[in-house]
Amino acid sequence: MKIARTVAEVRAARATLGRLGFVPTMGALHDGHMSLMAAARDGCDAVAASIFVNPTQFGPNEDLSRYPRPIEADIARLEAAGVEMLFLPTVDIVYPHGFDTRIEVGAIANRLEGAVRPGHFSGVATVVNKLFNIVAPDVAWFGQKDVQQTRVILQMVRDLDLPVEIRIGATLREADGLALSSRNVYLSAGDRAEAVALYRGLAAAEAAWAGGEARTATLRSLIATEIATTGGVVDYISIADGDTLEELDAVPDAGAVMSLAVRYGTTRLIDNLVLAPRAAR
Ligand code: PAF
Repeated sequence: MKIARTVAEVRAARATLGRLGFVPTMGALHDGHMSLMAAARDGCDAVAASIFVNPTQFGPNEDLSRYPRPIEADIARLEAAGVEMLFLPTVDIVYPHGFDTRIEVGAIANRLEGAVRPGHFSGVATVVNKLFNIVAPDVAWFGQKDVQQTRVILQMVRDLDLPVEIRIGATLREADGLALSSRNVYLSAGDRAEAVALYRGLAAAEAAWAGGEARTATLRSLIATEIATTGGVVDYISIADGDTLEELDAVPDAGAVMSLAVRYGTTRLIDNLVLAPRAAR
């Protein structure tokens, strides 16, 4: 695997790679990331990854300084997966002295995560745009776990005519349902046991939808009830249109996406589940 640390090194390596699938990450790689690396080979000649803990997407009181950075283990996993190139820049390479441009995506970036974490999606969009310009992938892969991030990036790619196809990989879960996340390592044993309530709540609401319930107030309260059995503090519970993420009063036959953010101690977890379209009645 070629490890490229500068823009020039990436461009030289990229020129030899043919049709390229790309998985941008912040490292602390888990099986969810690795499933994206495997998927990214589909229809491509080579796979590139990036590892960059992007400071501009963290708020002042968030976990930038303690974000896990097990770089040797990450490199070994990427090598074992046969990834052809890793872009591993420092902050100075991505944001050199004098850097002063931000990408601002509109409404979809300001609700849910965007409302609780002001500036987060501007940081994500800015760095993803830069990574696309540097790596020049044909296809880029993102995880469904960060559903709003996928929608923000789709909006940016559409609006700016970026020549990259966006693909989304399914959320991977622990046996008990907890979504894989680099932040799960922060959880104490007690919080880890309780955190499965996110998935239990989503699954309860999904079962109610499958049983005919479409009122989002009812579905939301099923999720809230599960969280309330634990010490989790809810930031939001959303049942929204799958494309625009606008809140719904009732789930239409076309389905919806349920998402939530819950804090356990100092650890903030997000998860989501898609309510599948109802078969035509
Ligand atoms: O999902 C992530 O890991 C990050 O938000 C991303 C897309 C790599 C941008 O920093």
